[in-house]
Amino acid sequence: MRVPLIAGNWKMYKTAAEAGDFIRQLKTVLTAQLRVEVAVCPPFTALHAAALELAGSRIALGAQNMHWEEEGAYTGEVSPRMLKEAGCRYVILGHSERRQYFHETDQEINKKLKAALKWGLTPIVCVGEKLAEREAGNTIAVVNAQLEGSLAGLAAEELTRLVIAYEPVWAIGTGRTAQPEDAQQVNAFIRSVLTTRGGAAAAGAIRILYGGSVKPDNIASLMAQPDVDGALVGGASLRPDVFAAIVKGGCPGEGNG
Ligand code: PGA
Repeated sequence: MRVPLIAGNWKMYKTAAEAGDFIRQLKTVLTAQLRVEVAVCPPFTALHAAALELAGSRIALGAQNMHWEEEGAYTGEVSPRMLKEAGCRYVILGHSERRQYFHETDQEINKKLKAALKWGLTPIVCVGEKLAEREAGNTIAVVNAQLEGSLAGLAAEELTRLVIAYEPVWAIGTGRTAQPEDAQQVNAFIRSVLTTRGGAAAAGAIRILYGGSVKPDNIASLMAQPDVDGALVGGASLRPDVFAAIVKGGCPGEGNG
């Protein structure tokens, strides 16, 4: 059974003090035993403060990016070893904003992904098509090429330690969410690629999230899809009450308010 994951991608929002406030509030509203795993991914400068507040809670910590080397002369970069020491369990890799604004390639994402696994971090690997690519009918081809490039050379055992997030670029921060059936179609395709690469058992164990304008009112229908195993949430993860509502919406029948 895959335990769903709902992860908040804070992007370049929240100072260390604001992260501490957020987590204190989130802990007061997320008190029930939930059938989903919850993670928050603050900016680098807030990781330490967040880790201190999260200690002893069931909420996991993630980073939003990293370099592939353990250390070195890479001004401005942060290594997997540093993230591990800071208390991260997850690291988002290949987010479309990193691909678009920082020109990250699938080859670089592949190096980062291997380094993350080596350091015991769970990568949340993001893939997704742009609007023009969807309109041209190229969604599957684009996602396939991103998977081919970013997962190159991984063994089946390594695949099982990944989380994949399908995030159509046209849905990120736009308020325009993919229809649950469209998310299901692409997530099922991603699982078929994983099956080809690593076998049915490995593919069946991997969580495939959806991301792009996830809100409290659309999470349940997205997660009702058989291959949507949670969500990567941007804008709606910045307020503890809204994020908690998404987490609760992703656990139907839990009776936790
Ligand atoms: P959004 O962002 O929820 O604000 O659309 C999602 C993401 O970028 O991961």
